[in-house]
Amino acid sequence: MKILLLGSGGREHALAWKIAQSKKVDQLYIAPGNAGTGSVGENVPLKADDFEGIRQFVLSKGVDMVVVGPEDPLVKGVYDFFKNDNQLKDIPVIGPSKQGAVLEGSKDFAKAFMQRHGIPTAAYRTFTGETLEEGLKFLETLKAPYVLKADGLCAGKGVLILPTLEEARKELKEMLGGMFGTASSSVVIEEFLSGIECSVFVLTDGRNYKILPEAKDYKRIGEHDTGLNTGGMGSVSPVPFATPEWMRKVEDRIIRPTVEGLAEEGIDYKGFIFFGLINVEGEPMVIEYNVRMGDPETESVMLRVKSDLVELLEGVAQGDLDQRTLEIDERSAVCVMLVSGGYPEAYEKGFPITGIEDVQDSIVFHAGTALKDGQVVTAGGRVIAVSSYGQDKEEALKQSFSQAQKIRFEKKYFRSDIGQDL
Ligand code: AMP
Ligand code: GLY
Repeated sequence: MKILLLGSGGREHALAWKIAQSKKVDQLYIAPGNAGTGSVGENVPLKADDFEGIRQFVLSKGVDMVVVGPEDPLVKGVYDFFKNDNQLKDIPVIGPSKQGAVLEGSKDFAKAFMQRHGIPTAAYRTFTGETLEEGLKFLETLKAPYVLKADGLCAGKGVLILPTLEEARKELKEMLGGMFGTASSSVVIEEFLSGIECSVFVLTDGRNYKILPEAKDYKRIGEHDTGLNTGGMGSVSPVPFATPEWMRKVEDRIIRPTVEGLAEEGIDYKGFIFFGLINVEGEPMVIEYNVRMGDPETESVMLRVKSDLVELLEGVAQGDLDQRTLEIDERSAVCVMLVSGGYPEAYEKGFPITGIEDVQDSIVFHAGTALKDGQVVTAGGRVIAVSSYGQDKEEALKQSFSQAQKIRFEKKYFRSDIGQDL
């Protein structure tokens, strides 16, 4: 079969790597892809949200399935675009409908959904410009630190955690005043939860689901979780506190109610669900939903999926995921992200990357790379993920760190404490 994967980051290279191993796949296209995806499939110069371009490409090549990496095309309705087109409607899109993507696209919707279905999450209220005064009063009823979330998508920047009431009041006014444009015209204020985070992933056909390996990601730029938030500096799977007992709580209290809740509400959802969880004194609670896989979690999670991913994706499309098997590799897998100096603030691009061919026994996933005159160059903040297996996370991390030294580009930086808090 012919598969088109949408997206261009490290997550997409890891998905492409896994999809390309399937016996079922004759041809894999990635739109737009990066310098790494070009080595496991064929890059197509189309943006992931250019629906008309994608339509023409899919029809001209006879693509059998579309897999969506990032949230943006999902929130813009790529699933519905296919469903509503006579020539495309029978080509499965792996990802939720536009209505389902609102779980990520609106924090207020996600919180209300969890409340409707009794899913554990922080207490909250949502405010707009008109209810600013009430919002300011609500803040006074909470304890520091204060959590403010722009309702809409803000490329990962829409959550503010503020140490004092004074700062929270000021930021609430600014957010509702248009700090993130229309994305912050509604703001969720919620109770602060204290604990360690864990990302849990599910693949669902809307009725059945399979739980993929969980992972922990490292969001801050600096060692020991200091400095600015990034897209993610590394990941580790499995997560030691995600014991079978804890995962049973996650399944009973969070995963099953979510999948059943979507079905009950008539929301078409055939794709990945990413549960951003926090472990509060042994009890899992939901911090957020995403409607896609995580990045850089995918760069360790895919290493631990032993089964043919395309078999599972077919189960999603055909609604018989319960008939498919998901076998998980018992080994640990980790990824260490090499980033451009300066990231997540301003950084330069276009530096040549060398040494990739010297890497041994690790898997190099490209995140922000491009080909320029035959040379791989840096093209983003997160540049390359070095993923490795190990009998335990220590062994896997040692392997990734040693190989990370071999890859060279100007101003390269990575965190050398990934996994050490666990
Ligand atoms: P989100 O975009 O919702 O994942 O939020 C970004 C980050 O903010 C999360 O990964 C958490 O580290 C933190 N965060 C969000 N909500 C809360 C909360 N209620 N309590 C504590 N930390 C939070
Ligand atoms: N690693 C977090 C995310 O993908 O949103």
